Amino acid sequence: MSDQSTPVGAEHFRYIAAHTAGDDLFLADLKRAATAGGIPGIWVAPEQASLMQILLRLCRAREVVEVGTLAGYSAIAMARALPEGGRVRTIELDPQRADFAERWIARSDVAGRIEVMRGPAAEVLPRLDADSADAAFLDADKAGYPLYLAECLRIVRRGGLVLVDNAFAFGQLFDEHPTDREVAPMREFNERMPRETALQSVIVPLGDGLWVGVKR
Ligand code: SAH
Ligand code: DHB
Ligand code: MG
Repeated sequence: MSDQSTPVGAEHFRYIAAHTAGDDLFLADLKRAATAGGIPGIWVAPEQASLMQILLRLCRAREVVEVGTLAGYSAIAMARALPEGGRVRTIELDPQRADFAERWIARSDVAGRIEVMRGPAAEVLPRLDADSADAAFLDADKAGYPLYLAECLRIVRRGGLVLVDNAFAFGQLFDEHPTDREVAPMREFNERMPRETALQSVIVPLGDGLWVGVKR
């Protein structure tokens, strides 16, 4: 830890959450319906969604690519930060999750601004044009991150935003014997990020740790 950092703990994160605008009724309903439908609650934290919206607004993003839709929570949050005519293209492998997300997106205030693309990200991303997005958010299988990052560095324009979830590996980053098999690939990805010369990036400790990068 650098001397300039205040040691933060659970108390600080509760404080941050309490001082950030949380979910509106629609997103709270979406989460309840997703949980009732057997979809795991692994969406981003509300305060993390808020930071993502701020960053999207700062870079005046119009086009966003997301890898990992789940129930559509982060896609809807990001779409809300886009101007009229903006679009989120979000990729989901699981057809039931894609169906759920499409139903809820259609009922949301950002219906028409989100396109769910079905299939494995490794097949969908190569179909997207170079320089066709202002921002990307990676939040799917962690073993795929190196490939998804390479693809997103092609798809996102210079000066664009690259966000990557789960730098803290589901809270198991420092576990000696992690139970989740995605911890190892997440750790490997974390080692690569600072050496990725095409990006300036830093881990922001909101939610499960969010990599925030800007394409040079
Ligand atoms: N971004 C969402 C959470 C995504 S959870 C939110 O914050 O609201 C990760 C999602 O990635 C899961 O729904 C999972 O089905 C999907 N996924 C896993 N592997 C994938 C792959 N290879 N291609 C596309 N999606 C994948
Ligand atoms: C899991 C995946 C995520 O992307 C996340 O943010 C939290 C948990 C998981 O697979 O358990
Ligand atoms: Mg995640």
